[in-house]
Amino acid sequence: MIILSVESSCDETAVALVRDGREVLTDQIFSQAALHAVYGGVVPEIASRSHVEVISQLADRALAETGLTRADIDAVAVTCAPGLIGALLVGVNFAKSAALALGVPLIPVHHIRGHIAANYIAYPELEPPFVCLAISGGNTLIVDVRDYTDMHILGATRDDAAGECFDKTARVLGLPYPGGKPIDELSKGGDDQKYQLPIGHVDGHPYDMSFSGLKTAVINLAHNAEQKNEPLDRASLAASFCRAVSDSLVPRAMDAVRALGYGKLAVAGGVAANSRIRKDFETACEKEGVELYVPPLKLCGDNAAMIGCQAYYELQKGIVAGSDLNAWANLDLSEEYPYEQP
Ligand code: KG4
Repeated sequence: MIILSVESSCDETAVALVRDGREVLTDQIFSQAALHAVYGGVVPEIASRSHVEVISQLADRALAETGLTRADIDAVAVTCAPGLIGALLVGVNFAKSAALALGVPLIPVHHIRGHIAANYIAYPELEPPFVCLAISGGNTLIVDVRDYTDMHILGATRDDAAGECFDKTARVLGLPYPGGKPIDELSKGGDDQKYQLPIGHVDGHPYDMSFSGLKTAVINLAHNAEQKNEPLDRASLAASFCRAVSDSLVPRAMDAVRALGYGKLAVAGGVAANSRIRKDFETACEKEGVELYVPPLKLCGDNAAMIGCQAYYELQKGIVAGSDLNAWANLDLSEEYPYEQP
C-alpha cells in the first residue's frame, strides 16, 4: 500500500510517499523559516500563500524522484489538525483534490499522532503500548500510546509549549527564529548552573507543565542586566535555560513511564532535537532500564513521512474522510475527528 501524504500545518510544506506504513520512499520538505525569520515568528497568511505556491511542485517531485506514477498511489493522507487554520486548509484541499482525481481513500491525520508515528519509521521494531513525550512548537504533551490509534493525554503544558518557550527566549537573547537550534548551539559553550531558573509545577496535576514563568525569568534577567549595564553570559543563560526545560520534561515523562509500566518511552516533535534533552533522557532511561526511542533530527521536525506512516494505521481502523473534510486549528489527539464518516 503506497500512501501519498501531505503536511502543511505550520511553516513546512511537505509531501511524502510511504509504503506499508514504515518505508519512506521519498519525503519532500520545503521550509518557510527564511520567509518568517524577518518577522521573528510565523506570519499565518504568508505561510498559507507559500504552501499554495509549492505544494503541487513537491508532489510532482515526489513522484519523479521515486519513478512512481499517479496510478501507484493507493490512498492520500493529510494533516487536518491542529495548526494554523489557513495553512492546514491548503494541504486539506490539495489532498481532497488528489484523492478525488485518483479515486482513492482520503485519510485525515492528527499532526501530533504523526509526530508520534515518526518513531515507527525510525524504529521498525517499535509497537504500542509506550509513553510518548510530544514536544513541538505548538504542543507539549505526555501521551499514553495504548495502540496505534488509541491515545490518552496524561499531561500537557498549561501555557506556552516547550518550542514556543525556546523561540521566545531566543528572541530575548538576540537569536534568529526559529530559536530552538540556535539556543541549543549557544548553550554548548555555557555553564548550565550559572543561572537558577524556575521550573513550573501545577498543583494536583503531576504530569502537567508550565513554561511561561521560565520565559519571563529569562526576559527579566536580560532586562535587569541591560538596565544595570552588566554583561550577560548568554551562553550560560542558554545552557541554564536548556537545563530548566529538560528538568521540567524528563522527570515527568519518567514518572509516567514508571506509573504505566510499559518500559518504553518515545520522544517526538521539533524540540526532541535538543541535545541537552536527548542526553538527559538517555541517562535517565539507562539508569531505569527503560527503552528510549528518539527519532533522528530530520524526523523530529515537521515532515509528511510521519503523516503517511500514521495514516496507514488510521486506515486499518477504517478512518477515512469524504470530500467535505474540514481542518481544525485545535483538536485533542484522543478525540474522534469531528466529521461524518462517508
Ligand atoms: O515539530 P516542529 O518542527 O513544528 C511543530 O509542529 O510545532 O517543532 C518546531 C519547534 C520550534 O519551536 C523550534 O525552535 C524547536 O522545535 N526546535 C528546537 C530544536 N530544534 C528545533 N528546540 C530545542 N532545541 C533544538 N535543537
